[in-house]
Amino acid sequence: MSDVQTLLETAFQSAITRAYGPEYADTDPLVRSSADAAFGDWQANVAMSLGKKLGKPPRAVAEALVKHLDLGTVASSVDIAGPGFINVKLADAFLVAALAGLDGDPRLGVAQTSHPDTVAVDYSAPNVAKEMHVGHIRSTIIGDALSRMLEFAGHRVLRRNHLGDWGTQFGQLIEHMVDRGLDGSDGHGIGDLNDLYRQSKARFDAEPDFAERARRRVVALQSGDPETRRLWSALIAESKRHFNEIYKRLGVSLSDADYFGESFYNDMLEPTAGELVAKGVAVQSEGALCVFPPGFKGRDGAPVPLIVKKSDGGYGYDNTDLAAIRHRILDLGCSRLVYVVGSPQKQHFDLLFAAARMAGWLTDAVRAEYVPFGSVLGEDGKMFKTRSGEVIKLTDLIDEALKRARDIVDAKAPDMTDDDKVAVARAIGMGALKYVDLSNDRIKDYVFSWDRMLAFEGNTAPYLQNAYVRIRSIFRKADEAGLRPNPDAVPVAEPAERALAVELLRFPDAVAQVERSLEPHRLCTYLYGLASLFHSFYESCPVLAAKDPATRSGRLALCGMAGRALALGLSLLGIDTVDRM
Ligand code: ARG
Repeated sequence: MSDVQTLLETAFQSAITRAYGPEYADTDPLVRSSADAAFGDWQANVAMSLGKKLGKPPRAVAEALVKHLDLGTVASSVDIAGPGFINVKLADAFLVAALAGLDGDPRLGVAQTSHPDTVAVDYSAPNVAKEMHVGHIRSTIIGDALSRMLEFAGHRVLRRNHLGDWGTQFGQLIEHMVDRGLDGSDGHGIGDLNDLYRQSKARFDAEPDFAERARRRVVALQSGDPETRRLWSALIAESKRHFNEIYKRLGVSLSDADYFGESFYNDMLEPTAGELVAKGVAVQSEGALCVFPPGFKGRDGAPVPLIVKKSDGGYGYDNTDLAAIRHRILDLGCSRLVYVVGSPQKQHFDLLFAAARMAGWLTDAVRAEYVPFGSVLGEDGKMFKTRSGEVIKLTDLIDEALKRARDIVDAKAPDMTDDDKVAVARAIGMGALKYVDLSNDRIKDYVFSWDRMLAFEGNTAPYLQNAYVRIRSIFRKADEAGLRPNPDAVPVAEPAERALAVELLRFPDAVAQVERSLEPHRLCTYLYGLASLFHSFYESCPVLAAKDPATRSGRLALCGMAGRALALGLSLLGIDTVDRM
C-alpha cells in the first residue's frame, strides 16, 4: 500500500483531471496533514489557487473536485470548509487496516524512491592541522543526517569529506616540522595539531628567514618533492586520526573511504582550467584567470569572479571546487549535489553553480543545492566560545556532553551496571548534542544551552529517547504477563488512540519532507509531536490495565508501532535509542 499522503495526492490529481481536463494533470493538489482533528485528518488546499487560475470561485472548484473524487473506502467524510479547504477524515476501518499493514513493514510505510539519484553530499570538511571546533559541528551533524535519510529513501549517496588538505599554509607547517624533527614516526609524534599550527604561523609572521623557507617549501610540495610529500602525508594521517576519532565518538557515518580532500583534485585542476578557457568561460583579468558569472556584483558594484588561476600561477579553493563539481557530475554521474557549508560561503556556491552552468557541466538534469546553516551561539547571544574567548574544541564539547549525561544517568538509574551507564550516557549525550543542532531551523542561529538540550521535557533528544524507553518497559511488563500485541485490531475509538494512529501514518511524509527540503528539523518536529501524542495516549488510555483483553492487545500494538517510529526516526537522524535509562 502506498502511504496516505501519496494515496490522497493521486486521488485528488485524478479528480482535478476529471473535473478540468488533462491540461491540469500536473497541478499540485496541496495535500497537507490537518493541524487540528476538527478539520479532518488530511486536507487538500488546491481549490483556492486552482480557482484563481480558472477564474472560478474556490468553493465551486472544491465542490467540483469533491464530486469527482474517488476515495473508495479510504474516507468516512469529505467536507468543504471556509473558502474551499477540502477536509478528509479517514474511515476507521481503513485506519485500522493501514496500521496492520505498517506492522509488518520495517520501513514504516516509507517507499523506496522510484527515481534514485546519485547524490554527492559534501559535508564536515575540516581543515588539516586544525582541530575540529564548534564551527564544524553543524556541517558534520546535518550532513550526516541528510546522508542517512537520502540513503534510506533509496538514493545512492556518495559522502564527500572535502578535507582542507592543500594550500600555502602547508609550507610553514612542514618547514616547522622539519625544524622540530617531527615526522609523525614513533617518538616524533606531531602531538597537538592546534599548537603546531599556531607555532608555525607565529614563526611565519615573525621570522623572515623562516617565511622564506616556508615559501620554498610550498613549491617543493607542489612539485612533488618526496621528502616534503612524506611529511605532508604524515600531517594528513595525524589529522585524519583525530577527525576519525571525533566521528567515531559522535557516531557520524564518515570513514577513511569518504575523504576526498582538496588534494584529491590536484590532477584535475589543469584540465579544468583548460576546458574553461577553451569554452570561453574563463577570461584573463588583472593577471589572473577568472570566471565572471553574470549578475554577481560586490559591494563596490564591480563584478565578482571565481578565481580559476591566481596571478602567481597557483590554483586555490575556487578552482578546486570547479574541478570537484565537474568530476562529480561528469565522472561520477551525480544527479544531485548537496553542499552542507556555513552561510558565509553562500556567494562562493552561487558563483560555483553559475560557473558550472556556463561550462555546461551543470544542466537541468542535475540538482545542485547549497545547504547553509546558522551559527551556534552562547547563552549570551554571541558566538559560542570558551569563557576566555577561545573557540570550543569538538573534543571538549563531546567530553562535556558525556560527563553531563553520565551525571543524569547516575542520578536517574543508580542501580544500572557500569557498562550500561556508559552506553546510556553516550546515547543521551551524543543524542542531545546532535538533536539540538538538527531540531532547530537549519538556517537560523541557535543558542547552545546544556540544561535545555539535556532536559527530559520539551523538544529534546532525551524526551524522545525517554518515550521510547517507556514503551520498552511496557513491553517488558507485557512479556512477563504473557501479553501479546495484536496489530490487526488497533482500537481507534478514543480520540487519543485515533490521534496517535493517524500520526503514525504520517511518518513517510515526514521523511519525504526532509528528502525534498533538506531540513532535518521537519523530522524532529514530527517525532516530537508523535512522542507528545504517545504521552497523551498513555495518560488517558490504560494499556496493560485495560479491562477488555482485545483493547489491551490492540493498544499494546499501537505502543509498539510508536516505539518503532521513534527508533527509526531517531536512527535516521543518527541518534541511538536505549531500552532503559
Ligand atoms: N574546508 C572548508 C572550510 O573549513 C569547507 C569546505 C566546504 N566544501 C567545499 N566543497 N568547498 O571552510
